[in-house]
Parts: sequence; structure tokens; C-alpha cells
Amino acid sequence: MLVEIRPVARLRGKTPLDVSTPLTTVLEVLRDGTVDLSRVRVVCDWIQYKENFRDVVDVRQIGPGTPDQELEVAIDLRRAAAADLADLTRRLMAHNGSPEAPDRIWLEQWLPGSQGCIWLFNRLYWQALHLWERATGRGYESALPGGASDARNEAAIRELISDLFRIWDDLSDRRALPDELYVVELGVGNGNQAKAWLDEFVVMDREHGRDYYRRLHYLMCDYSPHVLDIARKTVAEHGDHVSSLVLDATTPTTVLGFLRYKVFLVYVSNVYDNLPCDEVVSIGGEAFAVETRAFLPASAAATIAASCSIETPALPALIHKLLQIGPELLAEAMPTQFADADAAVTFWRDCWQSLRRAERFVPMRGLDSYQITPGLSGEMLRPLLDARGDLRINVNNGAVASFVDTLPLLHPYGRLVCHDLFITDVEQCRTGFRGPGKYDGSVVNWVNGPLLAHIGSRKGIDVRYAPFAHRKGTSIVTMTAQVRD
Ligand SMILES: C[S@@+](CC[C@H](N)C(=O)[O-])C[C@H]1O[C@@H](n2cnc3c(N)ncnc32)[C@H](O)[C@@H]1O
Repeated sequence: MLVEIRPVARLRGKTPLDVSTPLTTVLEVLRDGTVDLSRVRVVCDWIQYKENFRDVVDVRQIGPGTPDQELEVAIDLRRAAAADLADLTRRLMAHNGSPEAPDRIWLEQWLPGSQGCIWLFNRLYWQALHLWERATGRGYESALPGGASDARNEAAIRELISDLFRIWDDLSDRRALPDELYVVELGVGNGNQAKAWLDEFVVMDREHGRDYYRRLHYLMCDYSPHVLDIARKTVAEHGDHVSSLVLDATTPTTVLGFLRYKVFLVYVSNVYDNLPCDEVVSIGGEAFAVETRAFLPASAAATIAASCSIETPALPALIHKLLQIGPELLAEAMPTQFADADAAVTFWRDCWQSLRRAERFVPMRGLDSYQITPGLSGEMLRPLLDARGDLRINVNNGAVASFVDTLPLLHPYGRLVCHDLFITDVEQCRTGFRGPGKYDGSVVNWVNGPLLAHIGSRKGIDVRYAPFAHRKGTSIVTMTAQVRD
């Protein structure tokens, strides 16, 4: 039996984590059962997200689903002390590890993580942000690391703009600076960072004296028309210098193709960690795809169903209806169930809060049989997985797609700058939980920096990571990607 303890940093210090009690409890339950102990892995995480998609204990099938298959038992050490671990483990093991346990109301079939319905919830959150924020009385930024977007940090903005000015001055001196100076932001949220950037630009341009502001076009892009509406109001005083475009950040060239090789700065903050993500696990030298299946615990499902006067079996269809049409239309369409839009928002929030994902590990039969994006083979994962022993990594399919499809937009001296939760060394997957977690109504996954760097290097792009320099103690890392010199 293999036991893996990931949050090693918590094993030392003033209040070291108690691993032995939860481990002993789980091991005793396993010992008393009938499962072949030589085929069990026990994995201990510390899930830092108070709201997440996991139970305190989860059991996952590894392999093809035969009776003698291996199992992974996953424990969240953060919540273990407060839970009846023995009872939870016993109940899961009563089904011999099969996640088809009867106390779950399934919302979908088994799917790669990036295709699961948590992403429909995520999208709905941004489409109907005002309704969610009205219900919680809290803006989305308060859930971000540090409680505000680092993209608003003045020193960080000044550094970015002075870099741009340096490049523009140089091109201008060589008469190679185009008339139109394009800056693109993907995933703009409330527009506060666009405003901070533009305001600072005006001040610095005045000091600099080259009248770049007159030539500046700032394109705010987001897949949520509602978010863009808010952002447009935030930057209203910058008038014609700003345009807003509805687009999916995973395919920017579909809308921005006309800017090929013309953009000097593509600016992305706290978006890559919010894009659909598969996971891959390597166990004993074999690669497995992590398939996931969303469910509600039966007790929570019964409470939610009763709150809107439906039978529990009808709940999955109602949730999918909500995800399709949103809370306002749902309330209009089903006045017996929902008195008004606020009641439908309560339903939405309750479902989100109870939402869980079961996992199983399915053999991949070769990395090349897997596509990270339609144009990128799973072979790109090989350098990250080979010769590293057992490892679980995020593939961040949405972030990879966005990254790859942004590169063609860059001017030869242009840059892609992202502030986000990047891991910069694959080993960080071994020592910490990298998602998914829940931020209010949205999903967060750490971004696989080495994977983007590897893909970038294959395309002649230099990808660098530096800790976000302008706020102490933050986990945010800045990625800068540009054409190799
Ligand atoms: C966490 S917010 C970050 C907002 C802002 N950049 C900041 O740092 O505060 C994520 C933003 O990305 C947008 N977004 C998420 N997925 C997207 C996608 N696939 N395409 C375009 N925008 C997306 C959301 O609508 C939201 O505005």
C-alpha cells in the first residue's frame, strides 16, 4: 500500500499538522474490510479552499473498472479532525470503492474535467454576476487572492507602461511604430483594472510627452456581455480609446484576427485559472485521465428539491435548465417553483454550495491518444510526467488554448502578460492542492506554468515567470511571454 502526504510544509512548525490520527482511522477501516490492501493508494491533501468539490474522504477507481482494480482513497486533512472519518470511509468502502454509491444524485455522465457542468456554473456566474452579487452583498474581487485584483496594483501598471514606452520610443526612433497602438485585455471583470491602467497611462503619457494616448486602442474582451457592460461604464471617461468585444478567451483570434501581429500588450489577470481544466495522473509509470462526474449529496438534494416543491429525481433536469437559461428566465418560466428571480438565485447558490465531483482514473493508452486542445497533442505532457514518479497535474486546456491562440496576435515586440496562480515547477503539484476550488460562484484551478513554457518554447516563444513583485506574500505569479530574441 502506498501512502502519499502532499502538504509536507504543514508537517513542521509551531502547530504541525496531525497526520497520524486521520491516517490510522482510515487504515483501520481499510484493514477491517475485504479490499486487497496491496491495491490501495492513500493520498492526503490539504484543501485550502473552504468551498470545493470534494468530500473529506473520497474513493476513486483506478483503471478499467474490473472488480480487482486499484483504488485511491483521498483524505482532506484540513477537515479530517472535524469529521467522522471512520464512518465516512466505511460507507464509501461498503460499495467497494464504487462511486455509484446510492446517496448521490448525479448531474451528468463521467466526463473529462474540462467538460463537466461545473464550467456551466462558472459561465452562469459571470453571465448573471449582478444577481449573485446582489444576493451575497459582496463583489467577486473580494474572493480573489488578496481580496482585490493585483492587476489594479499601481506599481505593477507603471512598470508595464514604462516597458511599453521604451519599446515604442525605440520603434518610433526607427520610424517603425505603427499609427495605431493596440492593447488587448482578456477577461475584464468589472473593468477596474482597465480603468487603473488607462488612468495611469494618461498620467505617464503626459510626463513622457510623446502623445501615445492619442493613438491608443484598448480592447476589453470578455465572454460575458453583462460583465462588459459594467466594465464599459467603469472606463467611460476614456471614450473612444476603449472598445469592448464579446469573445471566448480560449479562441481570441476568432474575433481579433484583424489584429494579427499588431498587439503590443495582451493583458490577462485571474482568467487562466478560471478556464476549463482536465487533470492527468501518472501512477506507476502509467498515465490516466481523471474523469469526473458532478453530483449532489442525496440529503442536500432532498432539501433543495423540497425548497422549490419538486421531487428529488427531477432536480438534475431543473439544474440544467437553470444553467441554460439563468435564474431570471427560470423564475419567469416556473412561477410555481420560484416566486421571483431572487428565489431562483437562492436555488442556484444552494446547488453550487452542495455541488461535488466524483473522480475516476481511466487509462490513457498513450499520451498521443489525448488532445489538450484540438491542435495540441497530449505528447506535450510527456516532459512533465516522465521520470517523476507518481504525479497528478492540471492540464488547463482552456488556458493552453487561450495562450496558443493569443500568440499570433502579438506584434514582434509585443508581450502577453498574465497575473495568475501559476505553478512554476511541476514538483509544486506534489506538495500542494492545485484545485479546483470554489470562489463564490466561480471555479479556480492553479495554472500549469511549465506546460505553457514548454508549449511556448516549441513555438519560439520565451515564457518567463516571476513572483508578483508588488505585493508581499501573494501567491500570484506574473507570466511574460514574448517572441524569443
Ligand atoms: C476572476 S475574473 C478576473 C477579472 C479581472 N481580470 C481581475 O483581475 O479582476 C475572470 C474574468 O474572466 C472572464 N472569463 C472567464 N472565462 C472566460 C472565457 N472563456 N472567455 C472570456 N472571458 C472569460 C469572466 O467573465 C471574468 O470577467
